[in-house]
Parts: sequence; structure tokens; C-alpha cells
Amino acid sequence: MLWARPTTVSLGRRTVSTWAYDDLLPGPTIRTTAGDTVRARLVNDLPAPTTVHWHGIRIAPEMDGSPGFSQRATPPGKTFDYVFTVPDPGTYFYHSHVGMQSDRGLYGALIVEDPHEPLGYDHEFTVVLDDWLDGVNGTPDDALRRVNTTMHDESLTSPALGGTSGHVRYPYYLVNGRTTDDPMTFTSRPGARARFRVINAAADTAFRVALGGHRMTVTHTDGFPCEPVTVDTFLIGMGERYDFVTTLDAGAFPLMATAEGKRGRAFAVVRTTHGARTPSPDGKVPELQRQMLKYQDLQAERADQLPPPSRTVTVTLGLRMRRGGNQWMMNGRLANDPMRLRVDRGETIRIVLHNDTHMWHPMHLHGHTFQVRTSDRGGPRKDTVNVMPRKRVNIDVHADNPGEWMFHCHTLIHQEQGMMGILGYG
Ligand code: C2O
Ligand code: CU
Repeated sequence: MLWARPTTVSLGRRTVSTWAYDDLLPGPTIRTTAGDTVRARLVNDLPAPTTVHWHGIRIAPEMDGSPGFSQRATPPGKTFDYVFTVPDPGTYFYHSHVGMQSDRGLYGALIVEDPHEPLGYDHEFTVVLDDWLDGVNGTPDDALRRVNTTMHDESLTSPALGGTSGHVRYPYYLVNGRTTDDPMTFTSRPGARARFRVINAAADTAFRVALGGHRMTVTHTDGFPCEPVTVDTFLIGMGERYDFVTTLDAGAFPLMATAEGKRGRAFAVVRTTHGARTPSPDGKVPELQRQMLKYQDLQAERADQLPPPSRTVTVTLGLRMRRGGNQWMMNGRLANDPMRLRVDRGETIRIVLHNDTHMWHPMHLHGHTFQVRTSDRGGPRKDTVNVMPRKRVNIDVHADNPGEWMFHCHTLIHQEQGMMGILGYG
């Protein structure tokens, strides 16, 4: 059951009133095995309609939680039974798909285990990152207004995001719902091989992630296995997931996720020995400035390579500045009269995502995963891809899941300000 209701949650030292599932932040971790059926009853005790979207899962449209597309949002006081089979193992998450509700805390991890897990590891840890505004400053509407008014004064620059980053400096950054004041500790032992599942559930923050004293071997991109790549740090956009494995040293180490292009960080501790001094969230983690993962370094496993596309379409991401707020567009259209891409079942199409704006956009497609074409050799399988300012990214989509699917920017404010289109069949 997922019980959505107004509640108070503790962020460590600070308690906030907000909306959450089962009074938890993040909501309860749902763990299942590929091929199994998930049954989750949403109980809506919020004062507003809501849905649950299973981000990254290739699902039947009626279970996707896309309000106005495939289902109506569940009204206050009502329930909805989500029942679906999970086809692929991996690291996913779920969140409300109504307005900015997920930014209030309506999100949680969804872990799909592989019945034949090829990756050997002793421990696994789930790391859910978030930026926190609601519950400190009130409603999502307040948040929206604040985003509108602060977007130009507070935007800092990030080289990794091509010069521009998010809009707002959030008061808190969280790992598994905890601020740096009272961080979470992941406990293991020296020499253990640990798998970390990192999920970015933030509304408006990309994080640069590193584990002090360790290199990370990235094994999965948005749930899909890739050829392992060892790096010091990676950047994770909103809606993206990375899994990495590493062999833990003896001591206590900072797991640091700095808010890219902003001041602030999310932080947790990885501890393998009792006595070791707890690292400080203000300490330096040199790995953050070393070798950073690039999409070009990533390659899907052979079995997950998609067939070559039969045709190419371009989607231009655009911006119109208006006094009432920005309008973020896909092929010149806004969410209320959306761009439609038509596909036939069974075909593979290449979508050229052309970012004609000065900001980056983590673009997410529902109901499918795609292959990011970084070269002729292929590239990683993903469901969310960062498109840098003024750049193009090619993604190949195999149309194997008929329905009408949301295709949108996972910067929630951009989504709310129009950057949402449709991929539909027939
Ligand atoms: Cu995670 Cu349409 O969203
Ligand atoms: Cu965007």
C-alpha cells in the first residue's frame, strides 16, 4: 500500500510538514524481482488528486500514472490499485506525476532484482538524492512562484552542464531524506564489495557524486547493464539512475553529492570500521574534481543494443520568455497543445534532441527505454538523457509498447511550464 497524505517528516535535525507516502521520506522502498507482479494500492488522503508513476518501467499505459494520458488522477479520498509486471531488473523509482507533487516528497525507490544477478557483491545500498524546498516554504505553488522570481538571480554556472544549471538554491539537499546535519550511515566491512544504486529524485538539481577514497565502477545506466567503466565521479541529472560497485577500504568515508552549479551538497557516510573518525560534510573530496563519467564512455551490453533506426525525427527544445513566466517548448508546442511523435509498432526511430536553449534538459520518455547513440558503436540504454545547452543528442527508440506516452523534461518547473510532448502509436 502507498498511503499518500499530509504529514510531518524529519530531515534529520529538522522536522517539516509536507506530503509523503506512508509518512516516510523517501516513501517505502519497493523491492521485487524481474518477471514478478507488483501490486500497490494508492490511498489518496491528500487534498488534491494524485497518481503514482513508475519511472523507467516498461509498463501498460493504464498503470503508468500519467494523468490526462492513460488514466485519470485518483481523487482525494479514493484509492487506485496499481498492478503490473516488471519486465527488466534494475534501479528505478516511483513518484507522483501531478504537478510538482513529487517535489513535496511523494517519491520512493523501486528496486527490481535480477533472478540471475551476474554482478557479485556483498552489500547493496540505495542512495536517493533530493533538493528540498517544499515543507520549508509552503506549497508547490509557492515553490513555483519562487522559482519564477529567483531563476535569474540565483542561477550559478556549471561547466559540466554547459554553462547553466538549475534555477534555485535549495535550502537543503538530501540523501534518503536526511540533511548533512544528521546524515545516513551505510555500514559495511573492509574489503566488502558494495553496490550503490543512486537515484536522482530532485526537481531541479543535478548532483556530482563521489565516494571519498574510492573509485567507482559504473555498471548500470537507468537500470540497464553497461560495460563496466571506472571513474572518480559522475553527474546525475533529475530522473537518472546509476549503479556502481566498489571494494570498500577500512575507515569511514564521505559519500558526497554536490549540487552542480549551486552551493550545497547532499552527504552520507560509508563506514567499514568502528573507530574511524566520521568525515565532515564540509570536507574536501578530491575525487569530485577528477575523472568524470561521460555518456561517450558508456556502452550497453550486447543484448541490449537496439536495431538500427528506420527513420529520424528531430525534436527541438525551445524557450519563449514571457512576462507571466517562461514557456519551454518541444517543436514549438507547449504541454497544453503538445507535440506528437507518431510511431508504428515494431519500428525503431531515431530522435534527434536539439536543445536550442541556454539551459540543459534531462529528457525522459515513458513506457520505453532508448539507446543514446554516442557513436556508431552504440551507447548506453537509458530512459532519461541530459541534453546540454545548444547541443544535439541522438536517441534510438524501439517502439514495442503501444500507448500514448509522455515525453518530457524532468526539470519539474520546465515540465510545468510546457516542456512535455507525446509519443504515440499509429
Ligand atoms: Cu519521472 Cu514523467 O517522470
Ligand atoms: Cu528542462
